Amino acid sequence: SKDGYRHFMLKEIYEQPQVIAATLEGRLSERRVLAESFGPQAEALLSRARQVHIVACGTSYHAGLVARYWLEKYAGLPTQVEVASEYRYRRVVVPEDTLFVTLSQSGETADTLAALRFARERGYLGSLAICNVPGSSLVRESDLALMTQAGPEIGVASTKAFTTQLVALMLLTLSLGRRHGLDAAEEARIVQALHALPGVVRQVLGLDAAIEALSTAFAEKQHALFLGRGAHYPIALEGALKLKEISYIHAEAYPAGELKHGPLALVDSEMPVISVAPNDELLEKLKSNLQEVRARGGELFVFADESVRLEDTEGVHVLRLPRIDEALAPLLYTLPLQLLSYHVAVLKGTDVDQPRNLAKSVTVE
Ligand code: F6R
Repeated sequence: SKDGYRHFMLKEIYEQPQVIAATLEGRLSERRVLAESFGPQAEALLSRARQVHIVACGTSYHAGLVARYWLEKYAGLPTQVEVASEYRYRRVVVPEDTLFVTLSQSGETADTLAALRFARERGYLGSLAICNVPGSSLVRESDLALMTQAGPEIGVASTKAFTTQLVALMLLTLSLGRRHGLDAAEEARIVQALHALPGVVRQVLGLDAAIEALSTAFAEKQHALFLGRGAHYPIALEGALKLKEISYIHAEAYPAGELKHGPLALVDSEMPVISVAPNDELLEKLKSNLQEVRARGGELFVFADESVRLEDTEGVHVLRLPRIDEALAPLLYTLPLQLLSYHVAVLKGTDVDQPRNLAKSVTVE
């Protein structure tokens, strides 16, 4: 049931504090990720891994893209991420001691499953599925499984499955990191931030009314551009995918530094630009891009934390999020983009939970 919410999607967005807590449950001590989190056979696989290949589709693929930033930064492991429908049809070079990771809410996505079967013949160290459905094909056929605890996701547009995948991927990053030189103090700092995460997510949900107010600016638009840098580039991709899926507004995401290499030509007063820029370090580099957007009459929506020196001015809307450890910022900045798409779709009167042409689980190629 929708528990009084107007749509499953909204209910599922609001469930994120609980399902993130459930995904962390029993997997953390005060300062560390518990070794048992990945099951008894995990030790051999995780300690031998020297690189990681991640394969998934859609929103799950975006979670994989975030994980690449994390695995390379915190665990020092070379990481590749690819959409399953491409991966399964090409010649893939697999370096020795590579861990194969699939990400899937349903565990039944045809391309992801086929990619796993393809990978089995390619000499990987072993496979790990990060999945939300126990007993699914993907879980049954993988060597290891780390379950997300998102509960059933009914809305076709994935929300809570994505953020719990990110939580699981951070647990994987820290587990691999510990075996590959991640400093214990840094692990402890991120683990503390994970403990606090459900509370901070709840605070961000408190911004819903402010985000709903921003959504009116999009209802009449045909296009939107999302910008992010670093691990927030995949969050921009995910924001654009959500807007496309449920509001049918054409949206694209770019790493902010690419703007002047082409997409800037599209910007005018009809092209709102959404930028995910948690802190000043990221924003400094974005600022000149943002000015270029303003100079062309584009309306700007910036999601940033309190530390960012940027004021609301004509055509510039700044929405402040609570401060969070930078390791977890991509997770937190997902939420306002989910809410924004949701409210735009409601304004447009689309079928939010069952967008046209889409199925919840893509079990055919
Ligand atoms: C987007 C969405 C899809 C799925 C994709 C993979 O909101 O839900 O892009 O993420 O079809 O599905 P799973 O994760 O079940 O493999």
